[in-house]
Amino acid sequence: MKNRFSRIGFILAAAGSAVGLGNIWKFPYVTGEYGGGAFVIVYLLAIAFIGLTVFLGEALIGQNSQANVSTSFIETSKSKNEKWKFAGFMIATALLILSFYSVVLGWILSYVFTSFTALPTDPKIAGDAFNTLITKDLSTQLLYHTLIAGTVIFIVLKGVKEGIEKINLILMPMLGLILGGLLLYAISLDSFSQAVSFMFAADWSKVNSDALLAALGQAFFTLSLGVGTILTYSASLPKEVNFVKSSVMVAIVDTTIALVAGLIIFSFLFEAGAPSAAGPGLVFISLPVVFSGWGILGQVIAISFFIALIFAGITSAVSMIEPSLMFFIERYKMTRKKATILCGSIFYLLGIVALLSMSASFGESLTFFGKNAFDWMDFTTSSVMMPSAAIVICIFLGYYVDKDMLQERFTKHTPLFVFKIWYFLIRYLVPVAISILFLHKLGLI
Ligand code: TRP
Repeated sequence: MKNRFSRIGFILAAAGSAVGLGNIWKFPYVTGEYGGGAFVIVYLLAIAFIGLTVFLGEALIGQNSQANVSTSFIETSKSKNEKWKFAGFMIATALLILSFYSVVLGWILSYVFTSFTALPTDPKIAGDAFNTLITKDLSTQLLYHTLIAGTVIFIVLKGVKEGIEKINLILMPMLGLILGGLLLYAISLDSFSQAVSFMFAADWSKVNSDALLAALGQAFFTLSLGVGTILTYSASLPKEVNFVKSSVMVAIVDTTIALVAGLIIFSFLFEAGAPSAAGPGLVFISLPVVFSGWGILGQVIAISFFIALIFAGITSAVSMIEPSLMFFIERYKMTRKKATILCGSIFYLLGIVALLSMSASFGESLTFFGKNAFDWMDFTTSSVMMPSAAIVICIFLGYYVDKDMLQERFTKHTPLFVFKIWYFLIRYLVPVAISILFLHKLGLI
């Protein structure tokens, strides 16, 4: 078969999807805000019991049907009911996330270039520079968003094997090397032990219900769940490959990278005496100031760090467009080129709306009910669409798919008890946990 992943290609591509801004930018700042160690433990439990359960579910549906999201739900269901095609709504989530993800990757790309010239020397200058970029400097943002979108489109045009698998085979090991180098440098700093105890010494006093839900949400986001990406990638995974083992590997790689990124970033921050709870500006404001204090070495570290973020982000971005491509190619018999032009234009244009909505000049007209378009895209995807898709996946697998078929797929590769645990989790624990998260995000509880 042509356009298929090899086993290692799948693991790298799925890990490439999972490892993204969520690991290197978001995980450290959320951990910082919730005080470290105890949050990390909750997060690890959420990955192991909830994230991995849904991941296995998506992988199973995809690998079993070898088809796009919509068709795969119909074919995997007990009744083969056409109505399941509506589960295909989740591919729109991925495309919507990609719209603003591309804009954020654009900011990072601009940081790669500014790191060559000069880094801001204090938090005020750094904060102003960042604010100017996102509120005033429209042409720069547009340029970098276009570069990122163009790269994503160029890669996916080449297909699963030649485009997606290849780029992951190159970028993922390089990402590993850069992070490995940064980790070694972090270990050499005096502050490393402080970073370790911050991340692994549990202070349970800060773990309230918000922290629990943040950990759960993060576990979902970082594993790229609830948008059909893992399902779509798994549809290109040959049927005989052990999907359980591959999924566990992806979860391990993803978690390891989040922890390593956390250790690196907190060592850097503590070394410079900067606060750990800086929020979303941590990477864009606090870190550049830390790097600027280290002279030329700081510049090299800054450039490597932002390039690592770009690599991690690009491999996630290509995985966000693929579900829509596969859908249009299979269900509407489009060529890959046509589908790419269609989906590429959609996310590129929505990205422009997102970036304009933060600007001083267009912000007001693109703000609805107190949130600008960028925040709306973020909110509807992560708080509404992803959790609802995850609930649909759980209910589908737990109640509308033949149990014997599921059991057979699992026991082909693992002992029976693994299936039993998974089946219990997907029927009861996970849907309840996600429903609570969902209601909380909507402000209903
Ligand atoms: N997992 C990615 C990250 O950690 C982000 C992400 C969320 C994603 N949903 C996705 C990536 C869907 C690809 C597809 O940054």
